[in-house]
Amino acid sequence: MPAFTATAPGKIILFGEHAVVYGEPAIAVPVSSIQTRASVKAVIDGISGEIQIDAPDISLSSSVSELDPDHPLRAAVMAVVGNKNPEEIPACKIQISSTIPTASGLGSGAAVSAALIRALSAFLGQRLIDEQVSDLTFEVEKIHHGTPSGIDNTVIAHQKPVYYVRGEPFEFLSIGEPFSILIAGSGIPGHTREAVQRVRKNWINDPDRYDSIFKSIGEISKTAKDLIDAGSPADLGPLMNENHILLQELGVSTPELDLLVETARQAGALGAKLSGGGLGGNIIALVDEETDQITEALTKSGAAYTLNSTIPSTKIPG
Ligand code: PMV
Repeated sequence: MPAFTATAPGKIILFGEHAVVYGEPAIAVPVSSIQTRASVKAVIDGISGEIQIDAPDISLSSSVSELDPDHPLRAAVMAVVGNKNPEEIPACKIQISSTIPTASGLGSGAAVSAALIRALSAFLGQRLIDEQVSDLTFEVEKIHHGTPSGIDNTVIAHQKPVYYVRGEPFEFLSIGEPFSILIAGSGIPGHTREAVQRVRKNWINDPDRYDSIFKSIGEISKTAKDLIDAGSPADLGPLMNENHILLQELGVSTPELDLLVETARQAGALGAKLSGGGLGGNIIALVDEETDQITEALTKSGAAYTLNSTIPSTKIPG
């Protein structure tokens, strides 16, 4: 019996993190140079209902039933098998591998869930549409993040750039001209859950101030959407810089992230900001074609890794 395999890309938020939890728009794009792959194979002579998972990247090899009920891999399997009778589930082994750095704002958790959900469903005879993969992944994301906005699962399941407003139908982003970003990891794990909780605490203590920050971030996302559509990506740089200041005000930046942001700008980036939950994780910089100098400067300033990503135009030439 052939293996059923699915992949899911990483993702990066360009604008609007945190504010998106409070109903403001955000923009995120897939990063296809990094991905998760899930492969499901029948275990001949195995006992029906028994599902084995191997994820060597996180040194995990276990029967699903032996994982903690809250374990995201178990939750992803349960999202697919739900209340199915074990007799209906042929014994199988799920193999997971991933090149997406974990705890870094690159969507590794959502990508693992999306790839696993897609591959396991196909193995069980049901090919899910992207919307279904996104919805099931969102259920698993709630375990990682507590109150996720839904942006990660949307970008990763659909594998396209999105303009996302919580609770509204999302829009695929229209991109007038391709543009390039450089992602740099601070080497410090991101703490999205804590960052989201910190922002909530700050907001509860001073709703007027924080609502106004969220609103300003939302305005940046709206302007960025128009610029991206119009094909003026170079103008996104100053917006990234403004967005970073607002994220600092929310209390989710760190000295390490600030240093990388400053380094990228000094070395020639058109703009830079932290990306994702913050308190660690990544920064992104808007770059021209020549990035060697910026990459070198970021590495000298402590970047654990750098990744280049080009966001292609969605317009048909002619
Ligand atoms: O750390 P990441 O990349 O998973 O992004 C978190 C983004 C937040 O807006 C802070 C939370 C969310 O659920 O949207």
